[in-house]
Amino acid sequence: MDARGLFQRLAEAEQSHLLRFWDQLSPEERAGLTLDLQGIDFQEINGFFRKATDVSRGSVEKMDGRMAPVPREVLGSVTRDEARVKSWEQTGLQCISRGKVAVVLLAGGQGSRLGVPYPKGMFDVGLPSRKTLFQVQAERILKLQQLAEETLHSKSSIPWYIMTSSRTMDSTEEFFSRHDYFGLDKNNVMFFWQGMLPAMDHQGKMILESKSKVSMAPDGNGGLYRALKNQGVLEHMQQRGVECIHVYCVDNILVKVADPAFLGFCVQHHADCGAKVVEKSHPTEAVGVVCKVDGKYQVVEYSEIAMETAQKRGADGRLLFNAGNIANHFFSFSFLKDVVEKYEPSLQHHVAQKKIPFVDHRGRLSTPDKPNGIKMEKFVFDVFQFAETFVVYEVLREDEFSPLKNADRQNGRDTPTTARHALMSLHHRWVLNAGGHFIDENGTRLPAIPSLKDRSDLPIKCEVSPLVSYGGEGIRALVKDREFQSPLVIDESGVHQLVRDGK
Ligand code: UTP
Repeated sequence: MDARGLFQRLAEAEQSHLLRFWDQLSPEERAGLTLDLQGIDFQEINGFFRKATDVSRGSVEKMDGRMAPVPREVLGSVTRDEARVKSWEQTGLQCISRGKVAVVLLAGGQGSRLGVPYPKGMFDVGLPSRKTLFQVQAERILKLQQLAEETLHSKSSIPWYIMTSSRTMDSTEEFFSRHDYFGLDKNNVMFFWQGMLPAMDHQGKMILESKSKVSMAPDGNGGLYRALKNQGVLEHMQQRGVECIHVYCVDNILVKVADPAFLGFCVQHHADCGAKVVEKSHPTEAVGVVCKVDGKYQVVEYSEIAMETAQKRGADGRLLFNAGNIANHFFSFSFLKDVVEKYEPSLQHHVAQKKIPFVDHRGRLSTPDKPNGIKMEKFVFDVFQFAETFVVYEVLREDEFSPLKNADRQNGRDTPTTARHALMSLHHRWVLNAGGHFIDENGTRLPAIPSLKDRSDLPIKCEVSPLVSYGGEGIRALVKDREFQSPLVIDESGVHQLVRDGK
């Protein structure tokens, strides 16, 4: 397209300001900007903006009267249904061993709150092993493949589809390649990228981040569905005979990738779609809850309900709307295919108010101190409404959910420190449950639940490699009746820091 054509196209879309610095650009900058603008479907994006802002204006209407909690029949719980977990796990392992399970990792976010210039999965939270989130997750897949093989005597693999964005694709792929795919077969690790959308000001004008570059952001984790189609991922899954898909977020250090019990629970219930949840801790916790609205499942954000509803309790004393969404989902392949092929276009974008750096009319970069525009995002869970059979699986937060969102700061939430502590305290409990003990530097046994005054020393440093144990199994022979001092590391090469053998 020549420059005239470009000017004309932008004028029709009322986005001519994007060419405001054209006369000052070098030939290379002009070529780059032209290429970027050619890739934007202005009519479509203007339409997204209108719909998203209309919806966000309307959403202040509270949902309360239309909401119903998750009925017990569709709910599975690792605590309340403990006796059935083994059978679910067995079903899940069978699916894995028959090559029916795939995993999709949502890793296309910008990680702006964490603020590192590389993909979040490459972050090292400071575990004794210094493993990154990607490595921990890769090793859980390796271990699960091994467990499925041992249990069912047939070798199989779990394909891992990793969604990145155009900003993180190259560095993610390079990182995996540099680390030899952490021991996984590289043919089972597939990368794809999600779409990007321009950031807009409140009037619907796209924002320039430099004189020759439009500010672009990934289109939300619900951009998954479009990407699965555009990048041929769905076909790839079909060719491999995948029937169940586990979708999860990169930032949860405790994630049980392809959790066989969760998969098996969903399969036994013939579910199209399932959501893993943790119990909402208190009425004002800012977490979305899975519930029914007008008879259809959806996630309702804390801001969409009145305090009175958030505080309601059931006969058991628990919050009535307590199914806290942790973006950890099950899909049957046929449901995912329907979503991608039929329902995706009807998903609405949500509006996120953001501080978006921009170039002012003189071409100087400016960083606002309050939100000056929006990013438009689809959410992965917005497809629950289309499921005919939807199930919910409740797990313990301390066992399965500790997201990494923010950089470290004193008493911060969801930081590298909280993620590291969550993982080490889970592994500490694994060792105690398997009959191991911890002692201090004087040889005195430490209580399993330390008293409050000891809290400054918490947690005990303990890390079990996923290559040794997926969910706490298989360590009894290594730790029973033995005493350890912190830090304790159990990995493929053995138990490190064993102090006294009580056997
Ligand atoms: P968050 O919404 O917490 O975003 O993503 P983020 O990118 O990690 O961090 P901030 O908000 O910029 O600080 C939850 C999960 O969804 C993925 C993220 O990678 C993370 O696993 N995600 C988010 C995507 O895959 N694509 C997106 O467009 C947004």
